[in-house]
Amino acid sequence: MLRIMRFVFKDLSIGLIRVLCFLMVFVIGIVIGLLSSSHVDRYFTSQPYVLNPNQAFAINPNSLCTSSINETVSGNDRNGNVGVSCVKEDCLSMESFRFPKNVSHGMTDEELLWRGSLVPENAHYPFDRMPKIAFLFLTRGDLPFLPLWERFFKGQDAMKYSVYVHSNPGVKLDVLNSSVFYKRQIPSQAVEWGKVTLVEAERRLLGNALLDFSNERFVLLSESCIPIYNFPTVYKYLVESKYSFLDCYEDPSRYGQGRYNRYMKPDIRPRDWRKGSQWFEMNRALAVKVVADTKYFNLFKRYCTDDCYPDEHYMPTFVHMFHEPLNAGRTVTYVDWSVGGPHPVSFEAKNITESFLKSLRNNGTTCSYNKGKSHICYLFARKFESSALEPLLELASKVLEY
Ligand SMILES: *[C@@H]1O[C@H](CO)[C@@H](O)[C@H](O)[C@H]1NC(C)=O
Ligand SMILES: *[C@@H]1O[C@H](CO)[C@@H](O)[C@H](O)[C@H]1NC(C)=O
Ligand SMILES: *[C@@H]1O[C@H](CO)[C@@H](O)[C@H](O)[C@H]1NC(C)=O
Ligand SMILES: *[C@@H]1O[C@H](CO)[C@@H](O)[C@H](O)[C@H]1NC(C)=O
Ligand SMILES: *[C@@H]1O[C@H](CO)[C@@H](O)[C@H](O)[C@H]1NC(C)=O
Repeated sequence: MLRIMRFVFKDLSIGLIRVLCFLMVFVIGIVIGLLSSSHVDRYFTSQPYVLNPNQAFAINPNSLCTSSINETVSGNDRNGNVGVSCVKEDCLSMESFRFPKNVSHGMTDEELLWRGSLVPENAHYPFDRMPKIAFLFLTRGDLPFLPLWERFFKGQDAMKYSVYVHSNPGVKLDVLNSSVFYKRQIPSQAVEWGKVTLVEAERRLLGNALLDFSNERFVLLSESCIPIYNFPTVYKYLVESKYSFLDCYEDPSRYGQGRYNRYMKPDIRPRDWRKGSQWFEMNRALAVKVVADTKYFNLFKRYCTDDCYPDEHYMPTFVHMFHEPLNAGRTVTYVDWSVGGPHPVSFEAKNITESFLKSLRNNGTTCSYNKGKSHICYLFARKFESSALEPLLELASKVLEY
């Protein structure tokens, strides 16, 4: 009897447990159902912009592309302010990425150089990448040889070059809208001769030009530089070169090694110290390395002061230390230092003769080029006084072939 009772109880308790389990599963199911439905609700109400592509731009009034306006819409900005006028354009299009319509921008140097240092992991460009030469003009005021440069670029494929101008703040280049220099001034800062601000301007020019992923070669020029070969020759010479053209040598004198500051140890040792003209030509790989460097640049900024001239030492030393295999070790910009002193020879109108220009192009010597030799050593020359413009324009088509 007792045994039977025990069985009945056992049965009952098992039944109860089953009922309880069932109830629990049921309640949990209801709770999950309620939670997920409210989540879905919140998901859809909180992301209306995803469903409406027009409004997606309304939440981002600071979009990158505020030029090429063909339709403006009003909407609410991120903070709920009504009435912000925005541009309706595909801001992330490949078009606006490849061809920014405005080289002016509000980025700080730190932001700009970081963007300039980005390298695509995927080397297969989703567009036909025609390598471009970026002509970087580091100038003070106007460009006295602008008519000569216009002639140099005239009729050339605009997909093969780009122009950037860094002039002193406040200088506005007065050029026609048909000029290759039109709207090519980048945000600039004051530059002092022989000071680190000069190197900062060079890095700023590189940073801006690196934003165009088609730029492959980068040549630094001043307002007193002229091209001594025509564009097709310059293009072929640079684009086909395996190396960059950066002047880089050892100078044991007080104007070289004498400028080394022992506080740069141990990161920069005395034997690492190099000198060279600032007028570089470099390929994209090297340009990226230069704008990506903060450590060595900051050492120069701190310790290469007074009679040190960082523009003559920073890039040669940095490139010698880490990227020597990328460098031809010579410059493609001719200059005449034969008179001595801190400034090279300046050529004026009287000096511009046919034989002088011919000797700049080829004086009988050859230079190493890739694995062989070339009779072309220099593509550009400096320094020229503005008075030289007229005779240069007269002789350009006959001697310089442009
Ligand atoms: C805006 O301009 C782009 C190209 O410039 C064009 O494809 C698009 O149709 C234009 N949109 C309107 C609404 O006009
Ligand atoms: C170019 O950008 C600058 C600075 O962001 C701005 O002031 C200027 O209005 C822009 N120019 C054009 C034509 O969009
Ligand atoms: C260039 O300027 C000329 C006259 O100064 C003007 O007629 C023309 O519309 C301008 N072109 C562009 C594309 O702005
Ligand atoms: C340039 O011409 C001037 C005047 O004739 C002359 O004094 C100077 O030596 C010339 N310079 C060079 C580098 O030939
Ligand atoms: C000729 O070219 C060589 C090699 O660049 C250079 O060393 C030399 O000074 C040049 N001579 C003249 C007269 O320009």
